[in-house]
Parts: sequence; C-alpha cells; structure tokens
Amino acid sequence: MRSLLVTGGAGFIGSNFALYWAEKYPDDRLVILDALTYAGNKANLVELEGLDTYRFVHGDIGDQALIESLMLDEKIDLIVHFAAESHVDRSIHEPDAFIQTNVLGTHNLLKVAREVWLERDDAPSWHRFQHVSTDEVYGTLGPDDPAFTESTAYAPNSPYAASKAASDHLVRAYHHTFGLQVTTSNCSNNYGPYQFPEKLIPLMIVNALTGKPMPVYGDGSNIRDWLYVDDHCRGIDLVIEKGAIGETYNIGGNNEWTNIDIVKQICTHIDNIFAADSELRSTFPDAPAAAGKPTESLITYVKDRLGHDWRYAIDATRATNELNYEPVETFESGLQRTLKWMLDNESWWRAVMDGSYRDWIEKNYSAGE
Ligand code: NAD
Ligand code: DAU
Repeated sequence: MRSLLVTGGAGFIGSNFALYWAEKYPDDRLVILDALTYAGNKANLVELEGLDTYRFVHGDIGDQALIESLMLDEKIDLIVHFAAESHVDRSIHEPDAFIQTNVLGTHNLLKVAREVWLERDDAPSWHRFQHVSTDEVYGTLGPDDPAFTESTAYAPNSPYAASKAASDHLVRAYHHTFGLQVTTSNCSNNYGPYQFPEKLIPLMIVNALTGKPMPVYGDGSNIRDWLYVDDHCRGIDLVIEKGAIGETYNIGGNNEWTNIDIVKQICTHIDNIFAADSELRSTFPDAPAAAGKPTESLITYVKDRLGHDWRYAIDATRATNELNYEPVETFESGLQRTLKWMLDNESWWRAVMDGSYRDWIEKNYSAGE
C-alpha cells in the first residue's frame, strides 16, 4: 500500500487523477492537498468523500511546516505534483503567482521531500516524486519541425512556460545533487471533465451554450496536440510504475488540430446535439442552436495572445517503447464525452466562472483590435 500526496488534486487534471487512482488502487492512501484557488474545486472530488483512504487538506504547497507534518503524519511515500498556476493568459496578466507557486512552491515541496525521505532515520524504504509538467517548456514549432522529444532544448516563451521550465530544472537538480527519486512527465493539451472554462475547449462550449462570442485568437491557425485527460492519468500511472528514476517522459495524443478546426468541430457537434434533443432548447435558450441557427455564427476573431506559440506537438515514442503508453480515447469520442459532461453539469460550470477575469479577457482580447 502506498501513501500518496496529490498536490493540486482539486484542479482539472489532479481531480481526474485522484478519481482514476482511487478506482485503480483502492488500498492506497490518497491525501489531496490544494490551496483552492479559483481553479480548485472540492466538488470535483465529491465521489471520494466517505472513503477511509481519502483525506482532503486545504493548504499551500509553499507552507513548509504543513507539508512536513503531512508527510510525517501520513507516512507519504509518493508525491504526485500537479499544483500550479496553469493558464497562459493569466500568466501574461499577473505573472507573480506563477513564480510563487510553480517555482517557489515546487522548490518547497522538493526541500521537504528531501528532508523527510533522505535525511531522517525513519525514512520510508521506497519514495517517489512524480512531477507533472507541460510540453510548453520546449517553446514553439514551425509547420515542418519534428515533434518535441525529451531531448528537445528548453525554450519557454510565456511566464507560465518559464515557471514550469524552472520547476522541471529544480526537480532534475534534486535528483542529480541529492539523489531524490524523481520522474517528470511533459504532456500536451488536455481536455475533459472538470476543466476550468478559461481553456479553449470548455470556454467555447460554455459560450456556444450561452450565446456569447466564441473568441478565436489571431487567425485561428495555431496548432495544439490534444489528449483526453484520462489518457494523461494513465500515462502518469505508467511513469510512476515503470519510469526510470531521474528521467522524463513526453505524453501526448498524436492528435494535432488548428484552433479554428477545433472550434468548428465543437459548433457542429452542438448543432447536431440540439437538433436531436429538443429539450436542450429550453435548457439553453440563448444558444443559437436553440433557434435553429448555426453555432458558428458566434465565432469571433480577436486580437492575438501576446507571444502566442504557434504549434506544439509531442513525440511520445519513448513512453510508447519503454512504458507501453498509448492513448485509448479518439478525439471524436473524447470530444463527445466532454460535451455530454458539460451539458449534464451546467451547475458546475456556472458556479466556477470568474466575473473579474472574464472582464479582463474581454478588454484585452476583444474583436477587431
Ligand atoms: P488547474 O489550474 O485546473 O489546477 C491547478 C490546481 O492547483 C488547482 O486546484 C489549484 O487550486 C491548485 N493550486 C494552485 N496553487 C496552489 C498552491 N500554491 N498550493 C496548493 N495548490 C495550489 O490545472 P490543470 O490544468 O489541472 O494542470 C495541472 C498540472 O498539469 C499543472 O502543473 C500543469 O502545468 C500541468 N499540465 C496541464 C496541462 C493542461 O492541458 N491542462 C497539460 C500539461 C501539463
Ligand atoms: O500544452 C500544454 C498546455 O496546454 C498546458 O501546460 C497549459 O496548462 C494549458 O493551459 C494549455 O495551454 P494553451 O495555452 O495551449 O491552452 P489554452 O486552452 O489556453 O489555448 C489553446 C489554444 O487556443 C491556444 O493557441 C490559444 C487559443 N485560444 C485560447 C482561448 C482561451 C483561443 O483562440 N481563444 C481562447 O479564448
């Protein structure tokens, strides 16, 4: 039986991971630590409430005394580190929190893990620090460039990407210098249930359902490599189970799309779902689809994101060869599942939307500028 500390476990990927892990490894202890920022939501974990193996702790990864007491009290031997500020636009707007959490917070976790796991007589016989990172650390690709491999040089372009790159380097250094048993995964764009509606796919779905403009940055030609969140969780599981200590693994979907193609696919799906289910017209009366109009009428080209990376693509050959990693969800099925979840969970997304941030986005990314 392992005892996990899952940081950021009330966020999008962390909560999906906690639900995945509780089902697959029901005997493991699952301690979720989350600061409950705007992106964290305890409601994401409601299915775990009542399990003897589960404990939720509201706290900050930068709180040294809290982390130390948690690790000792709970005999933590596996940290799965998701906690981060994760949205690129917010890092352009207010970068400080990204340095605080992603750099200093990660360093605090490493520091305490080193002390508890490497310097104490009662240290566990096995330990692991699994660091969850992003493909954005590699920078941007041109149309004919090969996809990112684990040996692609780091070239982060946004404050978010730079803060994640710094955290990756710290994780690597704590292995190299102190012998901490670490693994790192760098993943492409995730989508699925519980994703905060500031990221492309859930934002477009919410705006389509509520009749708001669907803001496409620049000309919509930017490319991302999309992965259904369960496939990312399975990839992290494989890295923990089979990954080599001190190594990094790229996880991706082999699934590149331009933003405008994604947005148009969402529009088509929504038109079809409304045509097949007349009840949706009264649930979402402001959606163009409720009046039989094409959802695409909401697409609005707006000012581009500052420093906008043009293309990301992951080469996951190493994870495939060494860990047997393969995504199982197709983009078609993953998008359908995500849409169904958003339609079934209107109260969730209505509750989490943040008015002041939406105002900033509308001011900075408005049509015609
Ligand atoms: P998210 O923003 O949905 O969730 C982040 C969680 O961390 C939230 O619950 C938040 O409350 C918590 N948190 C923030 N600051 C904290 C602090 N100081 N102490 C404790 N908890 C804190 O993010 P996500 O999309 O689920 O991403 C999770 C991780 O995966 C991040 O490290 C991100 O860089 C990485 N990642 C994300 C993607 C993606 O497409 N979303 C892709 C690759 C990697
Ligand atoms: O690649 C992994 C990264 O993917 C993660 O590390 C980040 O945490 C995650 O936020 C995501 O970063 P992106 O910047 O790629 O995701 P986002 O959903 O913000 O944007 C996806 C693309 O869509 C990007 O090219 C910008 C564009 N976009 C986004 C929004 C929110 C729009 O055109 N309009 C929008 O309103």
